[in-house]
Amino acid sequence: MTDRLTFRAAHDQISVFERARIPEGVARACFNEPHFPPLDGLAEVIAGEVPHLNEYGGRTEEAVAAIAAAHRREPDEVLLGSGSMDLIRAVIASVCEPGDDVIFSWLTFEGYVSACHASAATPVMVPTTADGGHDVDAILAAITDRTRVVLVASPNNPSGRPLMREQFDRLVAGVPPRVILALDEAYSEYASSPRAAFGASLFGDGDPVLPENVVILRTLSKAAALAGIRAGYALAAPRVIGGIAKLRTQLSVDRLAVAAAWFCFTRDGLDQIEDRVEWVKAERQRIERTLRDRMEKAEIEGRRHIAIPHSDGNFVWLPVGEKADELHATLLSDARILARSFPGVGLRYTVVEEDVNARFIETVTAWATTP
Ligand SMILES: Cc1ncc(COP(=O)(O)O)c(C=O)c1O
Repeated sequence: MTDRLTFRAAHDQISVFERARIPEGVARACFNEPHFPPLDGLAEVIAGEVPHLNEYGGRTEEAVAAIAAAHRREPDEVLLGSGSMDLIRAVIASVCEPGDDVIFSWLTFEGYVSACHASAATPVMVPTTADGGHDVDAILAAITDRTRVVLVASPNNPSGRPLMREQFDRLVAGVPPRVILALDEAYSEYASSPRAAFGASLFGDGDPVLPENVVILRTLSKAAALAGIRAGYALAAPRVIGGIAKLRTQLSVDRLAVAAAWFCFTRDGLDQIEDRVEWVKAERQRIERTLRDRMEKAEIEGRRHIAIPHSDGNFVWLPVGEKADELHATLLSDARILARSFPGVGLRYTVVEEDVNARFIETVTAWATTP
């Protein structure tokens, strides 16, 4: 026993988010942040809150009512969070005693691991299918008496593979009611795969009521391009929303973020977000199709080539395995692009400005098809 202050063992397991030090002139395509400026009209809404910064809280009821209306839910079925990360932590903290299990696929969003450690919960990682999708049978088979949460990102990050509606239905049917099934839809707005299931839209007319243990998590960091403001929300049954809310920092969503969230759910905000999402989807399709055509041509000509899978996120996924770091370095040196390498697995590139995407296509083509 030492007299020196020590931290919990979990500290060694929690990775610290490091802001990328991006050299001058290098394009930022590593955090899945859209490149868009704030929505038209947002700055004025935020400015309107500035005179009230001395007051605790914000216009939360209005923001929650707007979100609830957009999802055809009641306000007590909505919980705002300081980014969806805040809510992921709160979901785990609200049901896990130390040593309880949280199940999720691996590879997926790393934030799940630190969220478990923060609550002394045990992360149980179930390997994804070969294409980076969720292995629903393996997830269900991993559930034990210790399991308290099953977390599923759809589309998954970094593979971009979505959960299909029938897979979601099987999870809903197979996860016991005492276990939270959290569907993390950080990228769901960008999905174009047919049959891909998205929890928030399950709340539409005529859809079945979801069981009490299902929680849908959404963020304003991606489609709404507000990663710097920190706002996300959960949709769930009122009793579950109340339980999660207790483990979230009180008033963690500041007045400016609340106002921004409200604006995103006005007709004007929703229309602007939809336009941007459509642009990203078309651009992602252009990148993937162009690369796929070029790889097919290289294959026909007997040259090197790589597989170009389909992603449903605002990013392109290249499962280049052991060569991930090499491609990452090539993009940085030859195209002045900072992508995200997942060493030994692949490289994720966030769809950004058209000219940067064009450089990405050219550099990946040259790297992949020339000996
Ligand atoms: C799958 C997934 N969930 C949640 C988050 C966290 O988003 P937020 O900025 O809302 O905390 C991310 C961020 O990249 C993510 O990829």
